[in-house]
Amino acid sequence: PTIHVITPTYSRPVQKAELTRLANTLLHVPNLHWILVEDSQRRTPLVTRLNVETPRNYKLRGDMRDPRIPRGTMQRNLALRWLRETFNKNSSQPGIVYFADDDNTYSLELFEEMRTTRKVSVWPVAFVGGLRYESPKVNAAGKVYGWKTVFDPHRPFAIDMAGFAVNLRLILQRSQAYFKLRGVKGGYQESSLLRELVTLNDLEPKAANCTKVWTQVHRLEGAILL
Ligand code: UGA
Repeated sequence: PTIHVITPTYSRPVQKAELTRLANTLLHVPNLHWILVEDSQRRTPLVTRLNVETPRNYKLRGDMRDPRIPRGTMQRNLALRWLRETFNKNSSQPGIVYFADDDNTYSLELFEEMRTTRKVSVWPVAFVGGLRYESPKVNAAGKVYGWKTVFDPHRPFAIDMAGFAVNLRLILQRSQAYFKLRGVKGGYQESSLLRELVTLNDLEPKAANCTKVWTQVHRLEGAILL
């Protein structure tokens, strides 16, 4: 299957460096299609692909880290719409969809793992939620039964954007499934999409039953690890 990597991005001093670093990773992955969506009014020469601007009232105001402000949500949704418009619902074109933020780090093993996703696959993510890593909890039968997180483990899917991949077929079949922009508490963005696609029982643990950490997020709270 082709891996469709969806990346929201926005203009800032480190943007070109981050995109260069991510592109250098993705260039090692065979059969990969990168959907880079800018948070801007117009396409910038740096990106020149897709763009949609987050409405001003949702944008950073004072507190840079306000968890109620969705970051990259509209851009990810535009990419989902593009996939649905581009691929027929009954298309036999095999594909995997992965949301990769422009500032994170991804091991090459991760991309090979996600290729066998039937519905939604999951794995640990480092440096998120104040932990060295967050992870799905996996039982002896290889089923996900909960979440090893400190931040709100009772979320339906207590998992970072970097911690899951979805089969393209499911994205095309559930054509109304999008990330919610309004009324989504911090940390619930991932759940807002995943609950439209699967239940806990459907999740497929990867990365050696979630014992390997093959991706890490980059965020300020990384400085205060537990
Ligand atoms: C965390 C999660 O890791 C994100 O997956 C999640 O989208 C985000 O929280 C959220 O729910 O708000 P965080 O470090 O807070 O991430 O956010 P960033 O890494 O700064 O941004 C996530 C993505 O959105 C990045 O690819 C970034 O380039 C993009 N972004 C950010 C925009 O497109 N526009 C913005 O104004 C800010």
